[in-house]
Amino acid sequence: MTFTANPRRTRLAVAELAPDTLDRTDPAGFPGTYAPPSAVPHRDARAWVAEIAELTQPDEIVWCDGSPEEKQRLIDGMVEAGTLTRLNEEKRPNSYLARSNPSDVARVESRTFICSERETDAGPTNYWRDPAEMRAELDEVFEGSMRGRTMYVVPFSMGPVGGPISQVGIEVTDSPYVVVSMHVMTRVASEVLDLIDGGQQWVPAVHSVGAPLSEGVQDVAWPCSDTKYIVHYPESREIWSYGSGYGGNALLGKKCFALRIASAMARDEGWLAEHMLLIRVTSPEQRQYHLAAAFPSACGKTNLAMLQPTVPGWKVETIGDDIVWMRPGPDGSLRAINPEAGFFGVAPGTGVETNPTAIETLTHDVIFTNVALTDDGDVWWEGLTPEPPEHLIDWQGNDWTPSSDSPAAHPNSRFTVAAAQCPSIADVWEDPAGVSVDAIVFGGRRASNVPLVAQATSWEHGVFMGATISSEQTAAAEGAVGELRRDPFAMLPFCGYNMADHWSHWLEVGAGIDSAKRPKVFCVNWFRKDAAGKFIWPGFGENSRVVKWIAEQVDRARGVRTDEGAVPSPVGLLPAPGALDVNGLDVSDDELAALFDVPTGAWLAEAELTGEFFDTFGDRTPAALRAQLDRLTDQLD
Ligand code: OXD
Ligand code: MN
Repeated sequence: MTFTANPRRTRLAVAELAPDTLDRTDPAGFPGTYAPPSAVPHRDARAWVAEIAELTQPDEIVWCDGSPEEKQRLIDGMVEAGTLTRLNEEKRPNSYLARSNPSDVARVESRTFICSERETDAGPTNYWRDPAEMRAELDEVFEGSMRGRTMYVVPFSMGPVGGPISQVGIEVTDSPYVVVSMHVMTRVASEVLDLIDGGQQWVPAVHSVGAPLSEGVQDVAWPCSDTKYIVHYPESREIWSYGSGYGGNALLGKKCFALRIASAMARDEGWLAEHMLLIRVTSPEQRQYHLAAAFPSACGKTNLAMLQPTVPGWKVETIGDDIVWMRPGPDGSLRAINPEAGFFGVAPGTGVETNPTAIETLTHDVIFTNVALTDDGDVWWEGLTPEPPEHLIDWQGNDWTPSSDSPAAHPNSRFTVAAAQCPSIADVWEDPAGVSVDAIVFGGRRASNVPLVAQATSWEHGVFMGATISSEQTAAAEGAVGELRRDPFAMLPFCGYNMADHWSHWLEVGAGIDSAKRPKVFCVNWFRKDAAGKFIWPGFGENSRVVKWIAEQVDRARGVRTDEGAVPSPVGLLPAPGALDVNGLDVSDDELAALFDVPTGAWLAEAELTGEFFDTFGDRTPAALRAQLDRLTDQLD
């Protein structure tokens, strides 16, 4: 085995520092707990890497520094190996196409485990496994798993390096595609190792595609294994991922760290790690508002993050499209960062009509995965243009024409691109101290019941809105509700601990923020359908009308506006007549009424289902949420 020494690694192991000797109590004036709990020993990075190498037995170890040269070297190697195809340099400069193994195209929730010491701490919405048993199982699985391959050591920061809300980790991986993607999605930097050596808590993350190479055997373009494990140990803050090279399974900074492990850290340390987008909204009067919004996967988060308002004079700028970390700040407000550095967005459905900003973002320096290839060496996916090209090579490498039976791009095909090259990126997007959150928005995909927008009457009511996010497959009949898929806080696949404890945690964090500084909470639903099953609201850029009302409600709460903005309803405050700006919009009065209809029978039925849902968490469901449910039922009655 050969070792490529990291030139910065000259110091001896310095990390015998016990956590309680670390000065991490109050960085930059942020109150809260910074020292990790005693269950998390400070690990020495090099000793840990050596331990993983001993287990996985790579041919070589390379310490990554995050430099552009390193990225290009890895890309060139992957082009040579057939993992990446270089796209037409004139049409799509510095851009590449990867085709995954057809069995490795998405996150595998059924193989995603939360291995807390106690099963109840993972809760009924996670797959739990006993940590000791899982460790023994993984030892066998990982033994020799990197044979014949290079192990890359990737030190990375989620959030600006050294920032008071940021966190760091090291991912070891045997996939160069993962390293290059981590370069885009996180901040890969040798400085992270210095922070770790200085005693900062860090998350060790082990990734192997699970395809050891025997001597003389030719590698495949996308190595992976049929056996997959995406394992989290929330108490010791560790991630182990095996068998997949795709997305959230393999880019461990994203869902595994920034949501599952970070949510457990946040619970212990008094902050919030959420599946949210983050935007800055500017009014014609140049007042600014920051909105964090949670939507289940595939509900258009990237579109809202890059919204081009149709309401004159309003501007939306992007800070993040998928994950937000929020922490009460020295100014008493809730400060938020996007811990990621790039977008890993779903390509199909992204077009000039639906998201022109994304299309502009994707003109150069992009890694596309599982989209189709055009005859002139560019990319295409369903929804990019209204008419498909006459001929394509589909995501599996086969000839494709518009008469083909299957889509040209995989429905979960992706673009990986630096956030910095998004034309709507806000200048504050990398501020280590974050932005002050003014409004929190929860949204689901609801054909019935849920109004276009409603404001919570209190923080507790807002937490209730978050806890009851759901989507439904079919339009509800009169007095009934379609089958609901619950996705509380849009965190169902991403909460690293008991979901009901997440609700309690939200209640606690809110209680700790002065009411004048506490964000206002809203729920939205772009997806309400009429009796004929047609969407009532046009969506996309027109969603800016809802964003405008939300901003104006923030103004009213602060006394900046004194006009009447809202009227009460059992499900929250709805826009007062005339308060939602629908000027120039082709929506009739009847349609507007339908968008805000609160049908009593269907809501009572839904409330009953919510009670049953709360019951699945037993006595972990906070009493405040049960009280909110009682209040809703009373008001409907
Ligand atoms: C994502 C998801 O990939 O939420 O962002 O599934
Ligand atoms: Mn997501």
